Amino acid sequence: MTEPKNIPSPTERLPLIRPDVPFADVEDDIRAILASGQLTSGRFVAEFEQMVADYVGAEHAVAVTSATTALHLALVCGGVQSCDDVLVSDFTFPATANVVIQQGARPILVDSKTDGFEIDCDDLLSRITPTTTAIIAVDPFGQPADHTTLEAIADAHGLLLIADAACSLGASRDGRRAGSHGDVGCFSFHPRKTITCGEGGMLTTDDSELADRARKLRSHGAERTDAGIVFNEAGFNYRLSELQAALGISQMKRIDEILDDRRATAAKLETQIQQLDGVTVPTPPNDTAWSYQSFVVVLDDDVDRSAVIAHLSTANIESTIGTYACHQHDAYTPFLIGGDLPNSARFGNQALTLPLVPSMTTNEISRVVTALSEALPASRSTSRKAA
Ligand SMILES: Cc1ncc(COP(=O)(O)O)c(C=O)c1O
Repeated sequence: MTEPKNIPSPTERLPLIRPDVPFADVEDDIRAILASGQLTSGRFVAEFEQMVADYVGAEHAVAVTSATTALHLALVCGGVQSCDDVLVSDFTFPATANVVIQQGARPILVDSKTDGFEIDCDDLLSRITPTTTAIIAVDPFGQPADHTTLEAIADAHGLLLIADAACSLGASRDGRRAGSHGDVGCFSFHPRKTITCGEGGMLTTDDSELADRARKLRSHGAERTDAGIVFNEAGFNYRLSELQAALGISQMKRIDEILDDRRATAAKLETQIQQLDGVTVPTPPNDTAWSYQSFVVVLDDDVDRSAVIAHLSTANIESTIGTYACHQHDAYTPFLIGGDLPNSARFGNQALTLPLVPSMTTNEISRVVTALSEALPASRSTSRKAA
């Protein structure tokens, strides 16, 4: 089969997502899977798990259907129960809080830092109570949280530490790759992530018991014994298919290339956008490498984000909000307990995601920068424009 040509015209719509999964990379494996008749839970899933475990530096990797189901399994296998409180990053895609609620526990929302999207460890400490049993710290947009400090807090208070690494495959901090921090790491393979299976997820851990239980529960709780299959605990169907695993393997083989490309594009966007008035570009702290799942900037408070998004759209460039400040949404306002979340609120209102697609051309990068440079002054509040 011939590969579709993917050469963008200078003015065609520039999307936020342009998945890069060449058919040639998976063609043989997909034929082999279909011919074998084993479409799920086979050697491709096992190989994908091993590749992720080795890459991340974790003892075990358990493939599942999404980061959401990985997070849910992490809570179940980590022993979180109804009536527990789980400290959760407020500035996140709501899946992080949803799994806690679905488990019957309370997600206690925690602020971001002033100068970065990651969870603020001081704010987190101030929200620990006797009913707190766990933390889910997000690596926003592939920017690892301060897991070294979080691990020290979790140890001191006897808390389970889950890293929501949905966006951070390939990122690292303090010499360790995302997914090797805390008790459990949870990755996503949604099309907007570093690598994609269409949909998919992975749980990583060094805890053999937790990994065994996760493997059992992802497949209904079924356990093979000499006496046949037995069920001693009710489970779920969170299994990844062989076809999805083949997609994941094909990209794990070139993950360093994928990351190099994203980082090179991010560096060019960063240098040029930093020159503009009205916007801040967050940059990695020392000893940290981001995966740049998304390229997200923060607009000044007097810039109207909706107007910027509309302006970029007229230039045929897709953009969107950063992510959600959960407490601003009705489902999560009951979990705003223990004080306001001013940084997350600001990012919820002013963070903006710009296109960062694979093999982004110089023309595409300058289209984004030019359109943003025109959008920013046009989207200032009137008082500032008049000054
Ligand atoms: C931080 C975070 N956690 C969890 C998820 C959920 O991932 P999935 O779609 O694989 O369930 C997302 C999805 O965007 C996310 O950004």
